[in-house]
Amino acid sequence: MPSSLKKPVLIDRFGRTVDYVRISITDRCDFRCVYCMSEEMTFLPREQILNLEEIFLLAQCFTELGVGKIRITGGEPLVRRGALELLHKIGHLPLLDELVMTTNGSQLSNCADQLKAAQVSRLNISLDTLKADKFTQLTRTGDLSVVLKGIEAAIKTGFKRIKLNAVILKNRNDDEVVDLVNFALKSDIDISFIEEMPLGIISSHDRAEAYYSSDDIKADLDKHFSLEKISETTAGPSDYYRIAGTTTKVGFISPHSHNFCSTCNRVRLTVEGRLLLCLGNEHSIDLKAVVRDSKNDVNLIKEAIIQSMDIKPEKHEFNLKEQPLIMRHMSSTGG
Ligand code: 5AD
Ligand code: SF4
Repeated sequence: MPSSLKKPVLIDRFGRTVDYVRISITDRCDFRCVYCMSEEMTFLPREQILNLEEIFLLAQCFTELGVGKIRITGGEPLVRRGALELLHKIGHLPLLDELVMTTNGSQLSNCADQLKAAQVSRLNISLDTLKADKFTQLTRTGDLSVVLKGIEAAIKTGFKRIKLNAVILKNRNDDEVVDLVNFALKSDIDISFIEEMPLGIISSHDRAEAYYSSDDIKADLDKHFSLEKISETTAGPSDYYRIAGTTTKVGFISPHSHNFCSTCNRVRLTVEGRLLLCLGNEHSIDLKAVVRDSKNDVNLIKEAIIQSMDIKPEKHEFNLKEQPLIMRHMSSTGG
C-alpha cells in the first residue's frame, strides 16, 4: 500500500512522521574505509547482536506501524551469513512498499540476481574513487576491480535505480568528483556526494582538515555540467540536481553545511538492537531488551517503538574540530 494511503502511527513531538527505518544487520565489513573504521576494529560478539529472527520480527513490527520503506545496511550487509534469506523474508512483508540496501559492492557480482529476487528495488553502492591504488588506500582492504564488476552485475540485473555514494575528502579524492559523475552518466545511474560525519574515533586523518563541502563539490561540477535543481523533494537529507538532458541525478548530503533535520522521516536500528532516533545524537531505546524480555510479544514491542517517538531529538549538531561526541562508527549505526 503506498505510504500516502496509510494512517501515520509514528509521529514525534515535532510533528514529523517516521515511515522509514534503516536496519544495520552487521557491524562487520570486508573493508576498513578510513572515514568509517579504524585499522584495528573489535566487532561485537554474537550474543550481543540481534539474531536474524529478531531482526525480521522488528521489521514486521515497523511495517505494522506505518513504515513503508526499509533500508538494510551494515557494516557490509552481505557479509552476514543468512543475509539473503533475511532480505527475502523482509522483502515479502505484505505492508512494506520498498526494500532497499546499501552495500560496498564487494559481493554484488555473485548475488545481484538474488537481491532482485528478494524484492530489493534499489541499491546504494559506495564508490569514492576510480583509481585502483587510491581505492585500496581509502578502503585499506578493497579491490576496485571487484567492486566495478559488482556494479556492472547490478546494472545488468536491472534494479529500479542504482546510486553511488561517494564520501569526498580534501586532498584525497576531491580531484575526482567530475570523473565520478562521468562514470555515473556513462552507466546511467545516480550519484550522491556525502560530507564526512564525525562518527567514532578514526586515526587516518584530521576530519576538520579533510572537510570538503558540498558547495565546493557543486562549484567543481558546475564548471563541467549543467545541473538543474530538482524541486520535488522527497523527505530526506539529499539536495538533488539532474544533469541536463540525462536521467542521472546528483545528490549532495551535507550534514555540516545544510541542516536537514526538519524533514527527518527516519530512525535506525543498530545491530545491537538499539533504536537510534537520530544519527547525530545518542537518544535511543533498547529494543533487543524489549524483544527478549517480552519473549517476542509484538504488542509490547510496538508500544515501545511508539513511545520512543517522544525522545526523537529535534536536530543534530556536528563539530569537526572537537573529539567526536558520537563514539559509534557508521558501521555499527548503519549509513
Ligand atoms: N561520514 C560520512 N559517510 C560515511 N560513511 C561511512 N562512514 C561515514 C562517515 N564518517 C558512508 C559510506 C557509505 C555510507 C553507508 O556511509 O561511504 O557510502
Ligand atoms: Fe565497510 Fe562501508 Fe564502513 Fe567502508 S564505509 S568500512 S564499506 S561499512
